[in-house]
Amino acid sequence: MTDDKTPVPPPAGEPGLVLDVRDAVKHYAVRRTTLRGPRRTVHAVDGVSVRLGSGRTLGIVGESGCGKSTLGRLITGLEKPTSGTITVGAEGIPIAAAHGTGTVQAVFQDPASALDPRMTVRESIGEALGRAGKDERERRTGEALAAVGLTPEFGARYPHQLSGGQQQRVCIARAIVDRPDLILLDEAVSSLDASLQAQVLDLLQRLQRDTGTAYVFISHDLRAVRQVSHSVAVMYLGQVVEQAPAEEFDRGLLHPYSVALRSTEPRILDEGTDHVERIVLTGEPPSAVAPPAGCRFAPRCPIVDDHCRSVAPVLTEATSGHLVRCHKPGELTLSGVVRVDPGTPAEV
Ligand SMILES: Nc1ncnc2c1ncn2[C@@H]1O[C@H](COP(=O)(O)OP(=O)(O)OP(=O)(O)O)[C@@H](O)[C@H]1O
Ligand SMILES: [Mg+2]
Repeated sequence: MTDDKTPVPPPAGEPGLVLDVRDAVKHYAVRRTTLRGPRRTVHAVDGVSVRLGSGRTLGIVGESGCGKSTLGRLITGLEKPTSGTITVGAEGIPIAAAHGTGTVQAVFQDPASALDPRMTVRESIGEALGRAGKDERERRTGEALAAVGLTPEFGARYPHQLSGGQQQRVCIARAIVDRPDLILLDEAVSSLDASLQAQVLDLLQRLQRDTGTAYVFISHDLRAVRQVSHSVAVMYLGQVVEQAPAEEFDRGLLHPYSVALRSTEPRILDEGTDHVERIVLTGEPPSAVAPPAGCRFAPRCPIVDDHCRSVAPVLTEATSGHLVRCHKPGELTLSGVVRVDPGTPAEV
């Protein structure tokens, strides 16, 4: 018999496994609103389990505040989980032990603040190589610059002499130079204009094919996530509500929140239609300080019922590789829905 509180040890020696997140929780204690008020806790990440293999990309989407970046900080070891385990590599090394070894790298949204303004591009990239000798450092820095499409002359420049797109390429070069197993990309292309975004996404895909590096790709932009990801996890209020192979995001979504998210995405009209079906979610997202007792999406769900309001659904495998956390999976579809309000029956 195993005690429920004892973390299950990760399977040792699973080939190709790069990341294994088990039941990760991150709660933040926040200020009381009044001196005698109750203690408050933000449930930023509330029981997330994801796994990722070599050469694969896991996309994470969801609206602002749903816990994407917090999960990213746990995955890279920048923060410790309140509970749960995060291990990297086939041997299941705890991220706390791997932190700082170069196994996991990260690229964030704002390249200007990620680069030291007093360091040249060559110095910034070379710094990631730790104790490498001068010649090796030169060679590998040059290779990393070439891999992101920058000529060797860029090595002597300072961040302020680069465009935003070039700065982000330098951040990517720095992330890849020491051949990490995993790169976290948190809104890494969000500040770039559309054509640069496309270039950087292409670049990331090419690098992955060449090196087999795994990516966790976080964005609120479902289209960008679908383009680069093999599997996509949709987060809502600190939890994964649906996870599916990327191709199932074109049809086949099962959670009402994912369907709504997908419906707001700009897309080309299907032949023979002259309008886009869109589900407008009304109502504020509930607070991460006091998540609802039943399903966390219930207050905004177009097909909610009493059972949903009182019993929290668990993440269940609907079909192979497709997980959903909903009592009525697949009941809300886009067909025929133009606008629905919570509580009113959806016109499906
Ligand atoms: N250090 C912190 N202290 C207290 N609360 C925090 C902290 N970091 C994040 N939070 C809260 O945790 C929740 C999740 O935040 P997080 O930044 O992970 O969301 P996100 O999905 O990355 O949002 P965005 O799309 O805006 O980047 C939010 O309610 C946020 O206010
Ligand atoms: Mg974020």
